[in-house]
Amino acid sequence: MNWEAFWNKQAEANKPAAQVGRINAGDLPSEQLHSRIAAHISDRLHLQPTDHLLDVCCGNGEITTLLAPQTAFCMGVDLSPKLIALAKANHQQQNLHFSRANALQLSGLGRSFNKINLYFSFQYFEDYETGLRVLSELAALLVPGGSIFIGDTPDASRWGRYYNSPIKKIRYFYQKWRGTEAMGKFWHPQEFEKMAEWLGLELQILPEPEDLPYAWYRFDAVFVKALA
Ligand SMILES: C[S@@+](CC[C@H](N)C(=O)[O-])C[C@H]1O[C@@H](n2cnc3c(N)ncnc32)[C@H](O)[C@@H]1O
Repeated sequence: MNWEAFWNKQAEANKPAAQVGRINAGDLPSEQLHSRIAAHISDRLHLQPTDHLLDVCCGNGEITTLLAPQTAFCMGVDLSPKLIALAKANHQQQNLHFSRANALQLSGLGRSFNKINLYFSFQYFEDYETGLRVLSELAALLVPGGSIFIGDTPDASRWGRYYNSPIKKIRYFYQKWRGTEAMGKFWHPQEFEKMAEWLGLELQILPEPEDLPYAWYRFDAVFVKALA
């Protein structure tokens, strides 16, 4: 799947939540949902006013802008130039910066961070090697003692709960065959364990709080880089 083209097209939606594919996300108005998600990310990363936070795959910046006031410096990066343009146009704060960047190649950012967030997006890294490459890019930008939150990833052990009827399964395989399947990869928590071990990171796999809309088929993970 060409995710850059996919997300550039999605950016044309008229509602901020739809621009980042947050559809069928329950009854909460999007402002309240975004605040709830930002509070959850902040909890998982124990955000502090001295933190330097990188938000990878930040989309249109609707969540990033709620995290920035809790930090000293916040940068959002995304593959889609159209989503980054929306983020820059709609969210301006003194300590908040947006830049177009591919999560597979982040060394160009030229700075390090003590907290990194990647939310609702790891599924777009569609095989183990690509996921490992992304995580190693993130780990390279992280100072010792820092943490990475990869939140809201579809859980491979709950694939059948998501594609829960013959018609949904047929549609999935048909779209996969056509190259138009847009959910990306359902990851096994064990694959996260393998990546953490390979990169020498500590890992905690956590269930999502049940009030989050996709908790029923997704999980959270926090990686910590040991102090040198
Ligand atoms: C579902 S949206 C999530 C946006 C945001 N994290 C949120 O929770 O509102 C997924 C985002 O991942 C971005 N993305 C996909 N592949 C990427 C890559 N290789 N590098 C950077 N961003 C990527 C897309 O452009 C899109 O904005």
